[in-house]
Amino acid sequence: MGRRWGLLVGVLGAVWLLGSGQGGRQPAETAAQRCFCQVSGYLDDCTCDVETVDRFNNYRLFPRLQNLLESDYFRYYKVNLKRPCPFWNDISQCGRRDCAVKPCQSDEVPDGIKSVSYKYSEEANSLIEECEQAERLGAVDESLSEETQKAVLQWTKHDDSSDNFCEVDDIQSPDAEYVDLLLNPERYTGYKGPDAWKIWNVIYEENCFKPQTIKRPLNPLASGQENTFYSWLEGLCVEKRAFYRLISGLHASINVHLSARYLLQDTWLEKKWGHNVTEFQQRFDGILTKGEGPRRLKNLYFLYLIELRALSKVVPFFERPDFQLFTGNKIQDAENKMLLLEILHEIKSFPLHFDENSFFAGDKKEANKLKEDFRLHFRNISRIMDCVGCLKCRLWGKLQTQGLGTALKILFSEKLIANMPESGPSYEFHLTRQEIVSLFNAFGRISTSVKELENFRKLLQNIH
Ligand SMILES: *[C@@H]1O[C@H](CO)[C@@H](O)[C@H](O)[C@H]1NC(C)=O
Ligand SMILES: *[C@@H]1O[C@H](CO)[C@@H](O)[C@H](O)[C@H]1NC(C)=O
Repeated sequence: MGRRWGLLVGVLGAVWLLGSGQGGRQPAETAAQRCFCQVSGYLDDCTCDVETVDRFNNYRLFPRLQNLLESDYFRYYKVNLKRPCPFWNDISQCGRRDCAVKPCQSDEVPDGIKSVSYKYSEEANSLIEECEQAERLGAVDESLSEETQKAVLQWTKHDDSSDNFCEVDDIQSPDAEYVDLLLNPERYTGYKGPDAWKIWNVIYEENCFKPQTIKRPLNPLASGQENTFYSWLEGLCVEKRAFYRLISGLHASINVHLSARYLLQDTWLEKKWGHNVTEFQQRFDGILTKGEGPRRLKNLYFLYLIELRALSKVVPFFERPDFQLFTGNKIQDAENKMLLLEILHEIKSFPLHFDENSFFAGDKKEANKLKEDFRLHFRNISRIMDCVGCLKCRLWGKLQTQGLGTALKILFSEKLIANMPESGPSYEFHLTRQEIVSLFNAFGRISTSVKELENFRKLLQNIH
């Protein structure tokens, strides 16, 4: 029985692989193999293998990245969790204590972070102040020096929205608050069932370039249609397929976290979070998920490689001498920048980067149209996050979509491409603090997922 199912899963898996020429579709046997059958050896659309990614991530990147994310610059994330859901009204707020988010008291966040300007250097700061004042007074004042006028355009136009893949969160709104990410970790909240399903369904159903007639498997409203879905998916161009895989990878990553930080014990004396292998299996076992779980895990690696590539590409921006991780603590800020660059150089040294040049290539006009579609669809997903009923999940959902949106902005920014690499760092390309914090924290989440997969692999080895 088990063997027959395994074979079926294996065949479905093989159908999914698009001309990757990958062999080794063994019938899945053990509990571990049933989850990990798709994540070994070579990955699609990339010349790298899972084992290389695992080694690189788990031992070289992950520990240093954790260090960086614990610093003040990266732990405080400003977010508006009170935006109304733009798509429907009946949001049932999750009332569980574990769904709650505790925002920072205003004196907890360093002043340097709270100040409105984006800090580069002292000279730049005084320039920004001058510019901000000019802005408050209305437009660019004639009396400003030409240099200052230029700077106004340069420093204040960080959000040229044509590049953005996410709805820019209105962080100037009085509803926006700083959240300490270390005190509000992403973990199991008990938010699941129909409400959580609805969010993911909307994301998959309406936003993945998918016609109404094709149903995604594992949608509780429509089962048994996985064949139509996957053959449809295979017929897509690489970009649209990539879009689906990014979303699926994000879904996988979030599920890995929830399984790894499961609420194991809940008494009034103590709460204990840890690995729940059963939960992991329910989400990723090839048989229990009709082949969907292992595919999702594979897509997690795809997402990892996309964000890794974006980080390697944006190095020149962070290498600018006047770039600072400004919190106001000079020594700490300098040390953090060193750590950041160390991490980025490590990332750059990864030999098997994903090649984004296959995206949006070909006919310029068509490519641009496709890119625009891609961007609009992704923006829509970032807005759907405002409909998540569990605030903790909303926080991490917003952060991770914003992070991925920033990665896409980097990957497909013409400004960055045009200025690479000899002409030196581009001063036209900008990232806001918000984007930087979400970019690294989102990547930190995926890096954590990859690391957690190693733990689950070990835990599953004791089970049959
Ligand atoms: C682990 O998760 C399953 C659901 O997948 C649940 O039934 C079980 O109680 C959990 N185990 C613990 C120890 O909480
Ligand atoms: C955005 O989402 C809404 C609601 O789900 C949908 O009506 C609209 O067509 C979507 N637009 C795009 C570009 O996906």
